Amino acid sequence: MKGLILSGGHGTRLRPITYSQQKQLIPVANKPILFYAIEDVIEAGVRDIGIIVGPTKEQVIEMVNNANFNAKISFIEQEAPLGIAHAVKISEDFIGNAPFIVYLGDNILKGGITRHVERFKEGDADASILLTPHENPSLFGCAELKEDGSVKRLIEKPKKPPSNLVLVGVYFFREAIFEAIKNIKPSWRNELEITDAIQYLIDNNFKVGSEIVRGWWKDTGKPEDIIEVNQLILDELEPYNKGIMEGSVIKGKVAIGKNTVIKESMIKGPVIVGKNCKIGPNTYIGPYASIGDNCEIVNGEIESSIIMDGTKINCNKKIVDSLIGKEAKILERNQLPKGHRFVIGDHSEIEI
Ligand code: TTP
Repeated sequence: MKGLILSGGHGTRLRPITYSQQKQLIPVANKPILFYAIEDVIEAGVRDIGIIVGPTKEQVIEMVNNANFNAKISFIEQEAPLGIAHAVKISEDFIGNAPFIVYLGDNILKGGITRHVERFKEGDADASILLTPHENPSLFGCAELKEDGSVKRLIEKPKKPPSNLVLVGVYFFREAIFEAIKNIKPSWRNELEITDAIQYLIDNNFKVGSEIVRGWWKDTGKPEDIIEVNQLILDELEPYNKGIMEGSVIKGKVAIGKNTVIKESMIKGPVIVGKNCKIGPNTYIGPYASIGDNCEIVNGEIESSIIMDGTKINCNKKIVDSLIGKEAKILERNQLPKGHRFVIGDHSEIEI
């Protein structure tokens, strides 16, 4: 079996972060989102993995290669984000006639995919989709099932959902999908849609199965999704302390990296702090914060936020529910005229 993980796309809903960083590389609990997908595929016993890369391919290639995963990883360049089915189509040479997994690199699944991979390998379905119940199925791809659990119909963002089951971004295919993709046309948004390709399989009497995932699933398309998934992952944090404590109080599950100094401050878990950071004095890092490497945080409070590598914060304010990119600065202004001073990128969002 082979794995195909999608790490292309524009990530427009995550601007300005995605102007300089591929969205799948945004860290959740200090690990790139993409790595959760790679780990799930490897855990399921699949060691031949293709990663679809797009506009900022160098970053993805460098980060993945530096991580030394126990797998053979190839990179497949998609010249433009022309759809998930397009990404599958351009991977035909890599896949050959092996059964394969397609895993959207911005999706995170709590329970992994091992059980589903086993079932697909044992069965004879041409495709299988993963589903999860959702309170608002109109926001996603939605599935109508037959009584035997096979799929009757898939509908993108239905006004009147036929069920509460929405499509998770992990699919299993055999080679019939390539025939299906050759027979579909781009959608109104000019993308080759994987839902159209699966619908082609259903309409042409191929076997399309489905399974319900256990545990939570998150598609990290928007900043609030990333903050939420950061909380879910931090809930399962394994605590460690490799840092240097100077007159500080640590409560709950906290992970602190090498050479990080926590001075006259309080950390209340679950919290992860990377290496080589300076925290404090007079700082509170509250539940559900992930602080990257080489950050300096003085005088202030941070809760339920992701602060990426090399950022400096010294503003005597409380920061909540925030996604702050690399090497950003949030500092107190001590000169006249009083007021807030901003140098922020296009599409940034600030609430004060
Ligand atoms: P989307 O979230 O649908 O698209 P996007 O990443 O371009 O984001 P936005 O809507 O904010 O602009 O993509 C789902 C996943 O598939 C995501 O991990 C990106 C990846 N992808 C590709 O690799 N190639 C593609 O052609 C498309 C459409 C998506």
